[in-house]
Amino acid sequence: MSNLTFAIIKPDAVKNNYTGKIYDHILSKKFEILSAKLIKMTKKQAEGFYEIHSDKPFFGELTSFMSSGKCMVLALKKNNAVSEWRNVIGATNPSEADEGTIRKLYANSLGENAVHGSDSDENAKKEIAFFFSDSELILNA
Ligand code: RTP
Ligand code: MG
Repeated sequence: MSNLTFAIIKPDAVKNNYTGKIYDHILSKKFEILSAKLIKMTKKQAEGFYEIHSDKPFFGELTSFMSSGKCMVLALKKNNAVSEWRNVIGATNPSEADEGTIRKLYANSLGENAVHGSDSDENAKKEIAFFFSDSELILNA
């Protein structure tokens, strides 16, 4: 079990000025932020990142949305980080998310659901490497 996961504060949440609130939420749940940066993905980058969903009917909508504005990408550290972070963000559809989860608090729809979380240790490593170089990851501070 790895202690790393990858998160995105998605364009809807950045546009709605929830970046600070979600950043605070991450810290309050005792994740260490190894690195964070504000970026705007190209459509190609979004397609690469969500390649696993390339055969899904929502792929076009998803990648257009993810490249529609600024988002914050974060590498997070905590014991059992992948499942801990997925518990904090809540169900994919905000209408099914538990009270107090980030998607319940800050998301409005299935397509624009405020945050991303890796779904496995293997994908967490890949996703961190997709957006961060080794020198950007502050592992021992
Ligand atoms: P994410 O990867 O963004 O953390 O979300 P997730 O694991 O909870 O959900 P996943 O199944 O990986 O889906 C990725 C994103 O695609 C959008 N989606 N749209 N229209 C639809 O039926 C549909 N299903 C999924 C969501 O924005 C979801 O976060
Ligand atoms: Mg997913």
